[in-house]
Amino acid sequence: MTNDIEHILYTEEQIYKRVKELACEINSYYSGKPIIAVFVLKGSAFFASDLIRWLNMDVTMEFMSVSSYGIESVSSGKLTIKRDIDSDVTDKNVLLIEDIIDTGITLSTLKNLFVQRGANDIKVVTMLSKPSRRIVKFEADFTGFEVPDEFVVGYGLDYADKYRNLPYIASLKRHIDRKSVV
Ligand code: PRP
Repeated sequence: MTNDIEHILYTEEQIYKRVKELACEINSYYSGKPIIAVFVLKGSAFFASDLIRWLNMDVTMEFMSVSSYGIESVSSGKLTIKRDIDSDVTDKNVLLIEDIIDTGITLSTLKNLFVQRGANDIKVVTMLSKPSRRIVKFEADFTGFEVPDEFVVGYGLDYADKYRNLPYIASLKRHIDRKSVV
């Protein structure tokens, strides 16, 4: 599996340090107010688990899995919810936790959904952002690292459901036959 790696972008140590810094920013923002932390699966599993351990307010963990229909989903709000959260978010503070924002379509649509559900305050934290790939204007409130337009895997990020368990974030070799990893 590691033979497929082009180069490491962020080591375990760099990730650990940045996650703690993000947690500090998030703690300052909420100043003790309770939150519902929504893990947007599968990619955010490691990041979200690491991040919330450093948060100092009351945190309710929720899990969600979605896929968007592309650009039309942003205006139509059309989102396939494969797994939904259990809690009622009305008047609650919601922190959506993502591994990566690419085109911005998923998070724009998901944030709109939580607005419709009556959340009081909705913030987004993402480990990675690829601004060069944006189709809709969307920025997270808290971002770990901005990455170039490379195929990024590890620390939860996959290609064809592989590589998620790498402890670092790396770019995948371009010559990898994409069919061979399916
Ligand atoms: C990834 C990521 C975001 C979405 C971002 O999820 O976790 O949810 O894509 O892309 P966008 O900004 O272009 O909408 P993916 O569909 O790969 O699912 P996964 O988390 O289960 O790997």
